[in-house]
Amino acid sequence: MTDDLTELPGVGDKTAEKLEDAGYGSLESIGASSAAELQEAADIGEKTAQSAISAAHEQLDHGYSTGKEKLEERDAVNRIATGSEEFDELMGGGVESHSITEVYGEYGSGKTQVALQLTVNVQKGEEGKKAVFIDTEDTFMPERVKQMAEAEDMDAEEVLDNIFVARAFNSDHQILLGDKAQEICEENDIGLIVVDSLTGEFRSDYVGRGQLAERQQKLNKHMKNLKKLASTYNAAVMVTNQVMSNPDQMFGDPTKAIGGHIAGHNSTFRIYLRKSKKDKRVARLVDSPYLPEGEAAFKITEEGIRDA
Ligand code: GTP
Ligand code: MG
Repeated sequence: MTDDLTELPGVGDKTAEKLEDAGYGSLESIGASSAAELQEAADIGEKTAQSAISAAHEQLDHGYSTGKEKLEERDAVNRIATGSEEFDELMGGGVESHSITEVYGEYGSGKTQVALQLTVNVQKGEEGKKAVFIDTEDTFMPERVKQMAEAEDMDAEEVLDNIFVARAFNSDHQILLGDKAQEICEENDIGLIVVDSLTGEFRSDYVGRGQLAERQQKLNKHMKNLKKLASTYNAAVMVTNQVMSNPDQMFGDPTKAIGGHIAGHNSTFRIYLRKSKKDKRVARLVDSPYLPEGEAAFKITEEGIRDA
């Protein structure tokens, strides 16, 4: 989806080219940008950037809309099944497109398993779409995806072929991969973007107290970018976040407060996962704009996520 950007005031061929190269090829992406972003991307002044943004909004008919139009927009939202009906019910039908869902919990609580299941389930049915997986902990397991796909009677190779996986080596690289995901979204019908884990690299890259502000700022920018992808391409974004089982033990570690705080403000839905007996897990919907708080039990089986 590339629009003719030269129709925007002050944007000539050269500027349009620079914008496109930097990933701002559509009116949607320009409208969703800040002036500072565009200034940097296309080497233009603040005024030009601002008027390009407002013109993009105007052309896209952004601004006030009626409640009825908002409802129609909501109708376009897709929901990805989790594999467990009870879990889906908790989420109002599944993991929603157009927003960020944060899944947090301690190690082994099932965050990655849920993420992998979603990369399979987003492909199901006639309206099936593809997935992007930004992997910061080397936890993307193709064999596991294969297992889950076969349990759904899907062609495992095809399923794997429809997942774009990138390994992030540090937090800057992770941010870059987030930016690059836009190109993939332009060229493919992407219904899901996973970042597993959202905070791990940030935690190790910014250790001291003095670096907290910078970490917070970078993480915020990263999430704003993910949010933009979610709304531009009507994709579901799912990010994972680890929490310490006993924060007191990790004296001085600010991860919980900071990562949680920034991630929380930028996420539409927040789900807390915890281990229960044996292979049972409990998902708690902690934050949602319109769904009641509640819990769902599920289990992790050979086939994937299932009802408990
Ligand atoms: P961290 O990334 O370490 O924070 O953990 P996580 O929350 O991502 O946990 P993950 O999703 O990796 O869950 C791991 C757990 O899933 C394991 O401890 C197993 O209990 C379960 N699991 C993974 N694969 C299988 C499988 O093939 N069969 C069954 N029954 N359980 C599995
Ligand atoms: Mg994991």
